[in-house]
Amino acid sequence: MFSAILLNKNADGTTDAQVVQLEDVQLPSDGDVVVRIDYSTINYKDALAVTGKSPVVRKWPMVPGIDGAGEVLASSHADWKTGDQFILNGYGVGEAHMGCLAQRARLKGDWLIPRPLAISARTAMAIGTAGYTAMLCAMALEEQGVTKESGDILVTGASGGVGSIAIVILSAWGYRVVASTGKLSETGYLKSLGAAEVIDRNELSAPGKPLQKERWAGVVDSVGSHMLANAVAQTRCGGTVTACGLAQGMDFPSTVAPFILRGVKLIGIDSVMAPRAKRLAAWDHLARDIDMEKLSTITQGISLADVLLRAPDVIAGKIRGRLVVDVNA
Ligand SMILES: NC(=O)c1ccc[n+]([C@@H]2O[C@H](COP(=O)([O-])OP(=O)(O)OC[C@H]3O[C@@H](n4cnc5c(N)ncnc54)[C@H](OP(=O)(O)O)[C@@H]3O)[C@@H](O)[C@H]2O)c1
Repeated sequence: MFSAILLNKNADGTTDAQVVQLEDVQLPSDGDVVVRIDYSTINYKDALAVTGKSPVVRKWPMVPGIDGAGEVLASSHADWKTGDQFILNGYGVGEAHMGCLAQRARLKGDWLIPRPLAISARTAMAIGTAGYTAMLCAMALEEQGVTKESGDILVTGASGGVGSIAIVILSAWGYRVVASTGKLSETGYLKSLGAAEVIDRNELSAPGKPLQKERWAGVVDSVGSHMLANAVAQTRCGGTVTACGLAQGMDFPSTVAPFILRGVKLIGIDSVMAPRAKRLAAWDHLARDIDMEKLSTITQGISLADVLLRAPDVIAGKIRGRLVVDVNA
């Protein structure tokens, strides 16, 4: 028997979430690697699944948890053997395939990547999909030719998981980062992560003109909606906006003006199905480039049972940084 969070759909469509004991036979059969999970985390998507706020779960019952780190217990996959240390991010795990907010999982070996030696399983989950996505955004800015000499980089949703780690990464790479937040009380925290300047997200979250004063060489946006539209409208000629999230909304109330009159590039970032080579490159960068002291200041450890209590706070945008789940606590 092992502990897991189990989600069931109630007759009225709401989600029932409980910590339960499961047996191996209850794990999905479509997987060639059985793993022990040491740490998981709550990303925004996990909070949506646990609270039932959005139809993230596509199969019931479901163990949530899109991220996990731990050790391989048994494998029939050629690349994995007992004792190997792994990281799992995405691939529909915790949505359509039972996930990692549990002490055990059966996964596909093709989904796993080796945990870099430089980071522990706990650190890997402090980074999690949020940090790996922040790295995909930072890499995309570089790929599009945004350099530290190009100008300021705007990071929206700055006090959240993606935002906080994007600030840590981009400031370490020498960029001047401007953090947009709804929590101006966190200005000291955001500056300690590396933000050169902190702005009130109210400057960006209301409907705005399609073209505005040019401010940003690059943008990491995890918020969507008007925030993304205004960020695009304020991006300099030839600048790049990376869009990865929808904390404000899924809509994009913009026009083509920034694209056809300023050559602004809008790059979509999808961590869930990102190709293996890109994942390996992102995790290699994360293991080398993340300031571990800063990462520890943005991380709180919680237990499996705490997930049920904290998930609504994640949806309400009340969490600063990252929640790491010790599934054995
Ligand atoms: N594309 C992908 O592969 C991918 C991967 C990971 C995450 N995501 C998405 O990225 C987003 C952020 O994820 P996360 O893990 O960083 O979540 P998070 O830790 O909950 O952070 C989200 C942040 O967005 C801001 N925010 C919340 N509600 C808002 C609102 N109504 N209007 C404006 N800003 C708001 C808040 O920051 P401030 O208070 O500082 O403004 C909040 O801390 C989510 O939508 C998530 O689904 C996508």
